[in-house]
Amino acid sequence: MRHIMVLNAKGGSGKTTLATNLASYFASQQNNVALVDYDPQASSLAWLNERSSARPPITGIAGYQRNAGRVKRQTDIVILDAPAAVHGAELTTLVRKAETILIPVLPSPIDMRAASNFIKEIKSCAPVAQKKAKIALIANRCRSITNISAELEEFLSKQKIPFLTTLRDSQNYVRAADRGLGIFELGPAASAMDREQWQPILKWLKSKRSQV
Ligand SMILES: Nc1ncnc2c1ncn2[C@@H]1O[C@H](COP(=O)(O)OP(=O)(O)O)[C@@H](O)[C@H]1O
Ligand SMILES: [Mg+2]
Repeated sequence: MRHIMVLNAKGGSGKTTLATNLASYFASQQNNVALVDYDPQASSLAWLNERSSARPPITGIAGYQRNAGRVKRQTDIVILDAPAAVHGAELTTLVRKAETILIPVLPSPIDMRAASNFIKEIKSCAPVAQKKAKIALIANRCRSITNISAELEEFLSKQKIPFLTTLRDSQNYVRAADRGLGIFELGPAASAMDREQWQPILKWLKSKRSQV
């Protein structure tokens, strides 16, 4: 059973967007997928609620609740959606739940400053320092023409952790989220650029580099 977490202490960086898209992608590849929402705002579970029963099923688990159900043994992939503002011992506890961690960062000075501190913290977090969890960075909501997007890419490529890809700011994510879908379940022509930008993430997740 594979555990992939989306994590960043900063709210609004795209954790839920990545988590739901990962869940829908792996479900559409005939995997048995569980989506565990650790955020009491429960945005991932709200997304799942919108999902049609005609789509490949995903099991939702309210990880933020003490009596949350358990992940079933036959699950192939567990996607964990983390809450914001997690630090210290709480962060270590959370990080122990996954072997693979994706960190989305937005192109904004505030987000980049926060990410700089968060990356330092997570690198020194025991499971990561002991290589029991592999981490990688993703630039999210970028607009190709803006200086700040280029600054974000430069910043992420200097972090000595894999910087996988840049995802554009796209209404496809908003439209898909609205319907309990991922971009891989939208029309191929309309979502071609977004699918393309996801390829390095999928490649990394399939490679040994993201596993322990
Ligand atoms: N690449 C993107 N393009 C367009 N909108 C996005 C993108 N990523 C995230 N969003 C939007 O940004 C907002 C915050 O994203 P969300 O995934 O909820 O962040 P988090 O879970 O880290 O708080 C949501 O409204 C979401 O639809
Ligand atoms: Mg969220």
